[in-house]
Amino acid sequence: MKVINEVDVKGKKVLVRVDFNVPIKDGQIVDDTRIVGSLKTINYLIEHKAKIILMSHLGRIESEDDKQKNSLITVAKHLTTLVNTSVYFVPNTRGDTLETTINNLQDGEILLMENTRFEDFPKKLESSCDESLSKYWASLADIFVLDAFGTAHRCHASTYGISKYIPSYAGFLLKEEVDMLDKVIDQDKNIILGGAKVSDKIGVIDNLIDNTSKFLLAGAMCFTFLRVEGYNVGKSPVSEENIDYVKNLVDRYKDKMILPVDIVTQNGVKHIHDMDDDDIGYDIGPETIEIFKEALNESNLVLWNGPIGKYEEKQYEKGTRELMEYLSKQDYPTILAGGDITGAAKTFNLKLYYVSTGGGSTLEYLEGKNFKTIGRLNG
Ligand code: 3PG
Repeated sequence: MKVINEVDVKGKKVLVRVDFNVPIKDGQIVDDTRIVGSLKTINYLIEHKAKIILMSHLGRIESEDDKQKNSLITVAKHLTTLVNTSVYFVPNTRGDTLETTINNLQDGEILLMENTRFEDFPKKLESSCDESLSKYWASLADIFVLDAFGTAHRCHASTYGISKYIPSYAGFLLKEEVDMLDKVIDQDKNIILGGAKVSDKIGVIDNLIDNTSKFLLAGAMCFTFLRVEGYNVGKSPVSEENIDYVKNLVDRYKDKMILPVDIVTQNGVKHIHDMDDDDIGYDIGPETIEIFKEALNESNLVLWNGPIGKYEEKQYEKGTRELMEYLSKQDYPTILAGGDITGAAKTFNLKLYYVSTGGGSTLEYLEGKNFKTIGRLNG
């Protein structure tokens, strides 16, 4: 993978595919981690006097109404507060205005074009990696940079199509994410797995199990494991379709699996032997928090995917919050991977060693999938 600092960018038109697909509520950006994450590449290009053309998707576009709701104008305004140069927003994804604004860009200036997925309605062109759209976007620039790690698992026109036509490089965020996740895949580690569904985690478990000493299982998904171990989990969610998979896993790797011993339910903290038929588990209990901390005590590296409780509600946040506080103070690195858990770090205002900007892409990368988008970044 070639990185953008391996080529001279001065005076060149550099088209950068970033992932500015950020949560926006009532016209306000709720979490700008992804935008901040891409600043390293953007600032490098400003300093090295490139003419910078930024492109990103926002949401999914299936109607005119979706277009109204998903303009990147909000992001453009926010970006102006983060960089030290002019930012021009063009409310189009093609055409004269876009081309003229690009041609008028001065070295070190930025243009952000409108949401690439506006090209998905009325015809799906961006997401189907339409050849002529890819060619057109490539014709706007001299160099392409892929820095959208969060969308690198999608072979769309803006993430994959363009790189067929012009020299293409990785941005610093993409490179950093890939290096970090490669380290996670290769090194011995402990993993905290939470979140809703076992089925979402199977690929990750299967790919990482050999290099993992312990799996700490929590979140709604742990109830399938507890059920397999013979406990009554009340009305907590159980993935019946994954029972066989979990049985097999527990049989083969029992020593690696650490399960909760107490659970916070709507009726208070219950030991797992004592759950009633109508209990629903929403968090791990205090005894489990201590067991988890002890299990993590001698880690080299911790990977955490998925919240371990319903942390958005105060009465169920303790497991996620306490464990995260604990990890933020340890000498070994903790890597947070996947949208929900990175949101928790933001909510609790905690700094961890590394927070991935990917959601689905991070999971797919950890599953060992090869990304064609990255494979083609060869300068
Ligand atoms: C994400 O938020 O996971 C990425 O931006 C990709 O978005 P998508 O799932 O709509 O392709």
